[in-house]
Amino acid sequence: MNSFILKGDICYSTNKTTLKTHKDAYAVCVDGVCEGVFDSIAKEYEHLPLYDYSNKLIIPGLSDLHTHAPQYSFRGLNMDSELLSWLNNNAFYEEAKYSDMQYADKAYSIFCDGLKNSVTTRVCIFSTIHTDVTKLLMQKLEESGLVSYVGKVNMDRNSPKNLCEESGEKSASDTEKWIADTKNKFKNTYPIITPRFIPSCSDGLLKNLGEIAHKYDIPVQSHLSENKDEIRWVKELCPESSSYGDAYDYFGLFGKGTKTVMAHCVHCSDEEVELIKKNKVFVAHCPASNTNLSSGIAPIKKYTEKNLRVGLGTDMGGGEKDSLFCAIVEAIKVSKLYYRLIDETVKPLTFNEVFYLATKGGGEFFGAVGSFEKGFEFDAVVIDDSVLPHPQSLTIKKRLERSVYLSADTTGIKAKFVRGNKII
Ligand code: GUN
Ligand code: FE
Repeated sequence: MNSFILKGDICYSTNKTTLKTHKDAYAVCVDGVCEGVFDSIAKEYEHLPLYDYSNKLIIPGLSDLHTHAPQYSFRGLNMDSELLSWLNNNAFYEEAKYSDMQYADKAYSIFCDGLKNSVTTRVCIFSTIHTDVTKLLMQKLEESGLVSYVGKVNMDRNSPKNLCEESGEKSASDTEKWIADTKNKFKNTYPIITPRFIPSCSDGLLKNLGEIAHKYDIPVQSHLSENKDEIRWVKELCPESSSYGDAYDYFGLFGKGTKTVMAHCVHCSDEEVELIKKNKVFVAHCPASNTNLSSGIAPIKKYTEKNLRVGLGTDMGGGEKDSLFCAIVEAIKVSKLYYRLIDETVKPLTFNEVFYLATKGGGEFFGAVGSFEKGFEFDAVVIDDSVLPHPQSLTIKKRLERSVYLSADTTGIKAKFVRGNKII
């Protein structure tokens, strides 16, 4: 059933700073698409079934623009190192286990279950180099009802033996076969080209992946300018490139003709930022991971002021939680540290601004997603904030802010709709 009305206290962003709230209002969904939010029900919608969530908060679904499914298993562990040693000692070690279908089956069931029961409705995911296991993950995500882009990861150099593909050619041909098998197989689950990052992909592989992305019109995801040692390494590996982003761009993997999302963007040069803007690349801001791995603070306020496209990412296991409510709080907190400790001309991000990034900002990667304006795909989460009792009377906006800060998503999610389908 894809047409219905939700009644409750409705909040959604219309632009970078405006959060609209409506008390005892009606959000109307027709054929999976939002008709708008109304104070009463118009005659043409009277026949639609109504879900009554009076006194509960109804918000758009949240988009997670960057996470790693195989790393869900070790989130919250081994956080005492920086990116490159963390990858070698933790991420690669764990990801190698996904050559075992049984292990992957168990781990990916836990991952999908966690995601389904979170506030996330849309997500961009890295799997591992393993093609069949990536297909299994896609099948499980499809069953969850979430909308996702899922990447078989490409790695043909600077990787441990048990997580290094035989050759760039084999990696590319496996990727092409995997795309042929999955491109039109699912309703809500799509392949995305996923070179892990420049250090783990040879020039030949990057060239092939750029060609495949264009040939099949498949989007691209990767990591960009996350950590200073990593950036130095990329400079050595790509002496011809003027920046890390320019190296992806050279191979057709940076937004030109292919929708692209780059995670982190902590230490981008001015030139790189201009290229991100020019090529309309999405930035996935992953504040928890950037802190855990001592990467730094991404200057997101600078990016939004330049009208870059920005969303949030949990980046598990660099980030420890799958909650985008937690990511919102982290994003606000680190922006305050950036302002106070690094550059007082860059004002902190506000709650409204980051709620926008988590909903409509990141949602844009998936189309008209992340708001209850007319024509948006109908993704919604219903939060019962009475799980966090309070004595005073609060506006809807304050109830939302408090629900996000106090993690009402751990026990307060009452319902979730994706593309008009009720999945919780
Ligand atoms: N860069 C390359 N691979 C990874 C990863 O798995 N996590 C993070 N945070 N950065 C990366
Ligand atoms: Fe990552």
